Amino acid sequence: MTGAGGVLKRTHGCGELDPAAVGAEVVLCGWVARHRDHGGVLFVDLRDASGVVQAVLRPEGLPGAHDLRLEDVVAVRGVVTPRPPAMVNPSLPTGAVEIDVTSLEVLNSSRTPPFYIRDGITVEESLRLRYRYLDLRRPEMRERLAFRDRTARAIREFLHERGYIEVETPILTRSTPEGARDYLVPSRIAPGSFYALPQSPQLFKQLLMVAGVERYFQLARCFRDEDLRADRQPEFTQLDLEMSFAGAAEVMGLVEELVAHVLQRTTGRRPQVPFPRIPYVEAIRRFGTDRPDLRVPLEIRDVTTLFRGTAFAPFARTLAAGGIIGALRAPGGAELSRRELDDLACEMTGRGAAVLAWAMLEAGGGVRSPLAKHLEPGSLKNLSEALAGEPGDALLLVGGSHPATMPALGWLRLEMGRRLGLTGSEEWRFAWVTEFPLLTWSEEERRLVAVHHPFTSPLPEDLDRLDGDPADVRADAYDLVLNGIELGGGSVRIHRRGVQQRVFGALGLTLAEAERRFGFFLEALDYGAPPHAGIALGLDRLVMMLAGAASVREVIAFPKTARAACLLSGAPAAVDGKQLEDLGLRVSPPPATGLPLHACDHVEQAEAGPGEDDE
Ligand code: AMO
Repeated sequence: MTGAGGVLKRTHGCGELDPAAVGAEVVLCGWVARHRDHGGVLFVDLRDASGVVQAVLRPEGLPGAHDLRLEDVVAVRGVVTPRPPAMVNPSLPTGAVEIDVTSLEVLNSSRTPPFYIRDGITVEESLRLRYRYLDLRRPEMRERLAFRDRTARAIREFLHERGYIEVETPILTRSTPEGARDYLVPSRIAPGSFYALPQSPQLFKQLLMVAGVERYFQLARCFRDEDLRADRQPEFTQLDLEMSFAGAAEVMGLVEELVAHVLQRTTGRRPQVPFPRIPYVEAIRRFGTDRPDLRVPLEIRDVTTLFRGTAFAPFARTLAAGGIIGALRAPGGAELSRRELDDLACEMTGRGAAVLAWAMLEAGGGVRSPLAKHLEPGSLKNLSEALAGEPGDALLLVGGSHPATMPALGWLRLEMGRRLGLTGSEEWRFAWVTEFPLLTWSEEERRLVAVHHPFTSPLPEDLDRLDGDPADVRADAYDLVLNGIELGGGSVRIHRRGVQQRVFGALGLTLAEAERRFGFFLEALDYGAPPHAGIALGLDRLVMMLAGAASVREVIAFPKTARAACLLSGAPAAVDGKQLEDLGLRVSPPPATGLPLHACDHVEQAEAGPGEDDE
């Protein structure tokens, strides 16, 4: 089939031809990916969705051949011929053949594209997004779309086989509290009322459990108005799932098998299951973060007790203020220069820790450290022994308050892993982080807020503390982490109204407020809500990691920029006065005279790397 007006009927895909097809007459359709004129003979690389093949055109008998331009879309008839041995291109699947063209039909011409449509280009991302339909013509981008499709298919295949059904939940709905701002949609029929786009299908999937669905999943689109980064988009896709009569163990077990199946299907490599399970407190203690990158074989050690009564003033001050001293052994780190150490010290204080000190273990067993003159003889030896130091290692010590120092050490751990080349980037290291706090204090809101969301169940053994010590209650929740990135989060849910109301109470919601916002949901819990649990995995993040892409934008067909703009369509954009009037809305102040968001947009702004703060 050719495009409208085409006469030649396509018989093959460009990428399908190999030596077995030699001698066949074929009709191909595709785009001119490259052309070269060799002494009057045109060599054209023809590209379609299946791949690229070389076509040879002798322009005398082929009207229009001389005028061909890059990205013109053509149909050609020709005979598959073997390439002369010297011309075989082993890097191309079709590189052993070429098409000796006998007819050419130009189906449509192209303007000069703003960048080369080929792999490995270094073009401003904003230009790629502005002309995304051209960017997606590039084989590596097409392959990413196909990879994403294979991932989604493997997910559905696995879950359908286990009796899960995919159910769509509403996009126009009420606010679901997941910690971000809502995108609101004004109602025309009820002026002054708004739908919220779902931050996740959380409440609806729980209602499906009340409805007796028992095994639900959905590749669900979610919307969150929050600061964007390499692994965040304002609209993104979750593999959302929920099961009844099950707890954390069942959800984690299912997800491990699911992830193993998906990785096997898409990459041919099956990860080892089960994944390690690390309680939150332990994750912070050993790795300084609740998203540990287990590829880095370094661990933080608390050495506070070794420095009790120290004469080293910065540590003495830290300890007097109730702070801690954490240490990291960096194998082979004794080579760090003074300058590098100073930079690291600056970074630590920038992150709120009070001090960085160091000790270098020398080849002959000596220790070189600015601390030496302040400490008791033997102190540094004790430190080295406690950390199992070896000659050539650096021992890095960071002191300060616990909340600032642990994340700073977490950063240092990753940074040292990177600098010392200790991160096997090819590896996949999954982990579950469990036993999160249920609630955390929000300075901004001056109240406790849910760490996951307000429908997460406390661990049964902590339930009694909900009214007295809510900040100490642990959640029956689990996050799935891959190589330091949070891939998913889920929990056992509250299925009894009384407990849900107590949690709302701990969050500072009055009964009346809870009733107003979530009355429909509380009511449903009264109608025989079964025990249930679930999880959501970020599909964009999963595909990004498996495809080895640097950002989720690389695996989303039409992503948005850091300012949540679509550079292709120009969204968001002003609307007609009439539309506003119909909705009973007035914009104040009126929209600026059209300096659209995308006009001066940069794709990333102050992008944080992995390991930075997350949702
Ligand atoms: P949570 O908010 O942890 O949980 O989200 C689950 C996963 O979704 C992905 N994710 C994102 N991906 C891209 N861009 C974003 N802006 C973004 N925000 C989140 C992450 C994250 O781990 N309803 C609960 C799940 C549950 O309890 O079942 C929820 O949405 O990979």
